[in-house]
Amino acid sequence: MSRSIIITGGAGFIGSHVVRRFVTKYPHYRIINVDKLTYAGNLENIKDIEQAPNYVFEHADICDEERMNEIFSQYKVDGVIHLAAESHVDRSITDPLIFVKTNLIGTANLLHIARKHWSGNFDGKKFHHVSTDEVFGSLEMDYGYFTEETAYDPRSPYSASKAGSDHLVKAFYHTYHMPVVLTNCSNNYGPNHFPEKLIPLMINNIIHMRPLPVYGKGENVRDWLHVKDHARAIDLVFHEGKAGETYNVGGHNEWKNIDLVFFLCDLMDEKLGREQGTSKGLITYVTDRAGHDLRYAIDAGKIEKELGWTPDYTFEQGLSETADWYLSNQEWLDHVTSGEYRKYYEEMYK
Ligand code: NAD
Ligand code: TYD
Repeated sequence: MSRSIIITGGAGFIGSHVVRRFVTKYPHYRIINVDKLTYAGNLENIKDIEQAPNYVFEHADICDEERMNEIFSQYKVDGVIHLAAESHVDRSITDPLIFVKTNLIGTANLLHIARKHWSGNFDGKKFHHVSTDEVFGSLEMDYGYFTEETAYDPRSPYSASKAGSDHLVKAFYHTYHMPVVLTNCSNNYGPNHFPEKLIPLMINNIIHMRPLPVYGKGENVRDWLHVKDHARAIDLVFHEGKAGETYNVGGHNEWKNIDLVFFLCDLMDEKLGREQGTSKGLITYVTDRAGHDLRYAIDAGKIEKELGWTPDYTFEQGLSETADWYLSNQEWLDHVTSGEYRKYYEEMYK
């Protein structure tokens, strides 16, 4: 094997797409998926590649110094792509401490262990921190984009913990010259998205004719990117990104939540052979999220100019394929919503 790369959070939504991409595209790399399997970790997401000879799963917590030390020693790790995190804003409002623990302390632990193991020889090493555009705060409705120079202004416990982790990563570059790269990406969608987030929650509820909870008036704006476009950006930045640099990743694809929910309702009615308007009747306006950021929008000019990345998916194509994926993977959805998916690990690995 020419490289030994840890991907943290590889059983989660985005991590599973990154793991699959690396395991299949780089058979000469050993890919070590380090995941604690929280409620968001689901090994069913990657069952198609788990027998690959260059893939290993390590059930571990990134906060566990001893275990991380062992894994770095055992596999002689020379690269890290760090996605493990608590990722849901609503959960961060009800339980902020676990976000500080995993996102901040977990990232600090990984940086510390990587530095210890790579100390004195950073040749051929790379630490890629996968982060979010939410660290930049909230934009006005009608103007402005987040660039790599935008000042950090996080508002939720989730974004604050991710902002802190970004600062730690940058500190390790400036203080120890560790070769780090960062990507700050907009909202992702696609297969294997946990149905607590807007798009899969709406799809799941439409399938089951349940209420569609829209926060506030549904006027908040998000910039949506297909998860496979994100995985391709991560691949590119991990290999070609300049040490110490940040790259913003986004789709120039802004949607007001309510317009997106309307669009999804029409799309699902068509796919389910229901009368148009059926799903719109399920929309329920609910109390707004506390501190709800108004608008996110990414200027992805740097990654386009410097590394030649632009999204492949149009939103219409990506959303239609995503809806089809959920419709033909209802077992996945049922396992996730019933908790059945937790058994997969027990059966396969214990
Ligand atoms: P996710 O919640 O679907 O998956 C997170 C994964 O991390 C899970 O498999 C979970 O088991 C694992 N994990 C959590 N705590 C852990 C710990 N202490 N040790 C080891 N593993 C642990 O998240 P996601 O949506 O795939 O996001 C992945 C990363 O991308 C996160 O860092 C997130 O901040 C970032 N990001 C997400 C989005 C998005 O739209 N989802 C956008 C930009 C950036
Ligand atoms: P979400 O998918 O949680 O991502 P984030 O908060 O990280 O952007 O939410 C996307 C948008 O959808 C956000 O503005 C909150 C809103 N939303 C709802 O209106 N209803 C819901 O049930 C959920 C989960 C989100």
